[in-house]
Amino acid sequence: MSEPVRIGLLGHGTVGGALHGLIADRADAIEAATGRRPEVAGVLRRAEGDFEEILGTSEIVVELMGGTEPTREYVLRALRAGKHVVTANKQLIAQHGDELFDTAREAGVQIRFEAAVAGAVPVIRVIQESLAATEIEKVFGIVNGTTNFILTEMAKTGAAYADVLARAQELGYAEADPTEDVNGADAAAKMAILARLAFGSPVVLDDVAFEGIETVTPDDMQYARDLGLSLKLLGVAERRGEQISVRVFPCFLYGGHPLAPIEGPFNAVMVEAPAITEITMSGPGAGGIETASAVLGDIVSIVAGEAPVHQPQAKLEIARDISSSFYLHLEVADEPGVLARIADVLGRAGISVKSVVQRGHGDDARLVMVVHECPEDAFGRAVAEISGLEFMRAEPRAIRVIEEEFMPTGS
Ligand SMILES: NC(=O)c1ccc[n+]([C@@H]2O[C@H](COP(=O)([O-])OP(=O)(O)OC[C@H]3O[C@@H](n4cnc5c(N)ncnc54)[C@H](OP(=O)(O)O)[C@@H]3O)[C@@H](O)[C@H]2O)c1
Repeated sequence: MSEPVRIGLLGHGTVGGALHGLIADRADAIEAATGRRPEVAGVLRRAEGDFEEILGTSEIVVELMGGTEPTREYVLRALRAGKHVVTANKQLIAQHGDELFDTAREAGVQIRFEAAVAGAVPVIRVIQESLAATEIEKVFGIVNGTTNFILTEMAKTGAAYADVLARAQELGYAEADPTEDVNGADAAAKMAILARLAFGSPVVLDDVAFEGIETVTPDDMQYARDLGLSLKLLGVAERRGEQISVRVFPCFLYGGHPLAPIEGPFNAVMVEAPAITEITMSGPGAGGIETASAVLGDIVSIVAGEAPVHQPQAKLEIARDISSSFYLHLEVADEPGVLARIADVLGRAGISVKSVVQRGHGDDARLVMVVHECPEDAFGRAVAEISGLEFMRAEPRAIRVIEEEFMPTGS
């Protein structure tokens, strides 16, 4: 009989507790697949367990505590002690990836983190292993379930952002402090990880520009419906020659886009490369048992002896000259000549309008337009100029739009 695989659990909350149960439930199947039976060597909580003891008795250390301290210290100590590490902690990888990968390489052990991005959806494995030899051009998608739930509910019910957020908290789809989810920071950490793996460049959280969904209004949702658009918080990492761009922003999609039907707390990630055209992966982005199942997959890979390499690579420059298409929402005085003045500002900036919807509201009118792709800097300057015009009744609101219309291809 071969030795059991002894697993130390740092953290025993939602994911750690679910993993503990899953290890017991799936022990026979794991033994059948790998030849070795998994066994929990010890558990660390705030008031239970001893890190040194767990370190001494484990072959694989699973970090499910969250946060970056003392987590970083524990993970580094485990790697230096020759233990493989599995973690679900996106902040830890996004902020300290270089240090952790260097340490793992020097110690000749693995660090795996499938559950850190898109929960149960195996995006890391696909990018890092299945597509290891593919020149990836773009990775993008919905990587935060909380915001996707909120935007889906806003679109379905017409309710205000704050009301839907409160409901998401009641249902457990949003945390008591939802800041990092709704302001885009959580998605930014996940996109830093995906960009690092897709482009082999040491992208860190600070390289990712992010915006959240806090300012989206029911009005935006209503107009979007009229224009055949749906709103998503998108993470986009793309290669542009020798540069890359990694960003998170709310964005309207046309109905035929593969990400448009992704609703509720689900996640979906698309990968584009010349050799594969595109791949879309979707599924539950969080949840105790779903996340634990991704963690267990990493444990099985380690026991089976598969080892992805994290070679240090030259850092690609972050691109700043981005072009996008935009939705622009303007509240204006309902008087002659307004549309022409706005069109003049946009025209002088070289921005062309794709569609316009206008509605009267007493003395005021709402003008909602979608403009074709243009440099973001030029668009920002034009919006600032429009904002200063005397007939404006509120600050303009702009949200990016992906114009691309996906046509189903024949079989
Ligand atoms: N929940 C999800 O759906 C999900 C999805 C994807 C990724 N993740 C990631 O998975 C990780 C764990 O999340 P979770 O939801 O399971 O968290 P959680 O329910 O809050 O559990 C955290 C666990 O870590 C322990 N812990 C925290 N700080 C500690 C410290 N300084 N010393 C010792 N123990 C400590 C806690 O101890 P006590 O039990 O004593 O409080 C608890 O057992 C996080 O990195 C999270 O981002 C979670």
